[in-house]
Amino acid sequence: MEAKHGTTEARNWEGCYQDGDIQWDKGEASPGLTDWLNTHADLPKGTVAVPGCGFGHDARAWARAGFAATGYDIAPSAVAGSIERSMGLDTPVNFKLGNFLEDKPSTAFDWVFEHTFFCAIDPSRREDHVAAVLRHLKPDGQFLAVHYFLPKDEEGPPFGTDREEILERFSPHFELVEDWVPRSYPNRTGLERMFWWRRKV
Ligand SMILES: C[S@@+](CC[C@H](N)C(=O)[O-])C[C@H]1O[C@@H](n2cnc3c(N)ncnc32)[C@H](O)[C@@H]1O
Repeated sequence: MEAKHGTTEARNWEGCYQDGDIQWDKGEASPGLTDWLNTHADLPKGTVAVPGCGFGHDARAWARAGFAATGYDIAPSAVAGSIERSMGLDTPVNFKLGNFLEDKPSTAFDWVFEHTFFCAIDPSRREDHVAAVLRHLKPDGQFLAVHYFLPKDEEGPPFGTDREEILERFSPHFELVEDWVPRSYPNRTGLERMFWWRRKV
């Protein structure tokens, strides 16, 4: 991610899309999500919100697996690109323009899924991020995340985090079902970790 699009919360995500500066986009869903959906085909199907959905690859993977998926992004070009890439598919997917950290959803979701999103948000807003996940989830909702682990002292985005911080931030509100190292895109092998959380009642 180049500095010319800003390194703070004021990052110009739309500018990234307009300039094609979107090296996070690999043209397919997170391999870890794909594997998880394949191995959990027996899960009850429900609704899922995918914040920071980019071009919608992950949201479409959830929809193909039978979930009612809604992708959100703050960049209009990401939302437009998601809609364009979803045309003519058998499985419908919704995409909406929105600021995940600020929006109040009209209906809560069974699931929130995120991928390379926590690391995209300025670290000063990490508590707002946790609050936003809770706001978007039903009381018995579940949260699945693919986190990208980088050193914390490097300038971002992507901003660094580690397993310890993720546990510290989410454990007060969620029971950890499982966390593991997923299959990743080749240039992220060993740098990602997935966390499956169930909201505490
Ligand atoms: C690093 S990209 C990851 C995109 C996608 N999840 C993927 O892995 O391909 C981060 C995405 O989050 C979006 N984004 C950043 N801040 C956001 C916010 N507050 N609300 C919703 N989307 C946001 C950006 O526009 C961008 O598409």
